[in-house]
Amino acid sequence: MAAGEFKVGLLGHGTVGSAFATLLSERADEIERFNGMRPVLGGVLTRSRGSYEEILEGSDAIVEVMGGLEPAREHLLRAMRAGKSVVTANKQLLSHHGEELYETAREHGVMLRFEAAVGGVVPIVRTLEESLSATPIERIHGIVNGTTNYILSAMSAGASYAEALAEAQRNGYAEADPSDDVTGRDAAAKMAILARLAFGTPVHLDDVRFEGIEQIKSDDLEYARDLDLSLKLVGSAERRQGGLSVSVYPTFLYPGHPLAAISGSFNAVTVESETITEITLSGPGAGGRQTASAVLGDVVSVMTGGARPPAPPLALELIEDVESAFYLHLDVEDRPGVLATVTQVLGEQLVSIKSVVQRGLGEHARLVMVTHPVLESALRAAVERLGAFDFIRSSPRTIRVIEEEFM
Ligand SMILES: NC(=O)c1ccc[n+]([C@@H]2O[C@H](COP(=O)([O-])OP(=O)(O)OC[C@H]3O[C@@H](n4cnc5c(N)ncnc54)[C@H](OP(=O)(O)O)[C@@H]3O)[C@@H](O)[C@H]2O)c1
Repeated sequence: MAAGEFKVGLLGHGTVGSAFATLLSERADEIERFNGMRPVLGGVLTRSRGSYEEILEGSDAIVEVMGGLEPAREHLLRAMRAGKSVVTANKQLLSHHGEELYETAREHGVMLRFEAAVGGVVPIVRTLEESLSATPIERIHGIVNGTTNYILSAMSAGASYAEALAEAQRNGYAEADPSDDVTGRDAAAKMAILARLAFGTPVHLDDVRFEGIEQIKSDDLEYARDLDLSLKLVGSAERRQGGLSVSVYPTFLYPGHPLAAISGSFNAVTVESETITEITLSGPGAGGRQTASAVLGDVVSVMTGGARPPAPPLALELIEDVESAFYLHLDVEDRPGVLATVTQVLGEQLVSIKSVVQRGLGEHARLVMVTHPVLESALRAAVERLGAFDFIRSSPRTIRVIEEEFM
């Protein structure tokens, strides 16, 4: 090894990997100037070139931007067991095998960095691990998927779901197969990682309740405007009833919420705690060069001996049935007594109404209301009962609402 060189073994040379290789050579002089060491590529592995063994042998650290669970997991474990620090952008891997990877990093005294796995270039991982490490966090809300935020922004401007998705694909914000994004699974993996960092409790992707945006109708967004609400796919991780609740749902926000103004493909994360009130970080959600820049930041952190792996886990119970305010959309027959029956059924489940919009549409009417916070199970019970009445014209639709505003 040449004196002062820091060799980076690169696993994967696709969108992120090739952007990383370019950025590394562009930034090497500057990194050497302030660190005294020059990062250089120690080898590249793809399906068709390179040998993992040789790359591992010849590198000081490993960067994994292959994606998928295997062989990414095995390669990272082997690198750490060989005493090498690793950097990854792989949210699926961390949300499935995080504890095994963190434990291996701790055991072998190496670093495991993963800023690019969550939030694009928004430095939320480092903020939670370092700046807020002494802050008891109450709640995190995040827009952590740029594709769905782009689609919902286009829908608020009047596009249908299909039109907005096609536009996102044309502009390179959505993959040809967007299922991981639009089903909420990508955001759920990221929230599992953030919840582990913020609350110390191991959270597997399977522990995160999630729902995507495929069922959202343009008229939900239209009514939302009347109620002064904007719709986002919001990931939440929060202390609830002595435990921890982690979820991803389409959610309405009032204008004073810091996430309400995040539009297009941007990401943003809000962290709340009694001691800091609220902070929000936002920035571009993804893209090869942006992600590569977060990966390179982690490589520099490894070179300079930055943060340690997450501490051994604590156990908070994972809570499923939590309180939230809800938007409730009912298509009903326009006849006397309907509203009274709806109100009575909701009242029996202790669902109280904050605001209502009613529109007559010939023989039927639309009732769109926002409830005060209520246990999800109680709202579901009320909706199931309402669905059985003959005056209901189509299945009731519900969407979560975050009531907080920070102004
Ligand atoms: N794209 C983004 O904007 C973005 C943003 C944040 C995080 N990420 C994460 O970054 C990672 C990479 O994403 P990407 O978009 O760069 O993926 P990509 O374009 O599909 O590139 C994957 C690369 O990994 C290589 N690879 C895959 N499986 C392999 C295997 N079994 N053995 C050897 N090489 C293998 C591929 O080799 P071949 O070239 O031979 O196919 C390709 O070079 C993923 O974990 C993704 O979730 C991506």
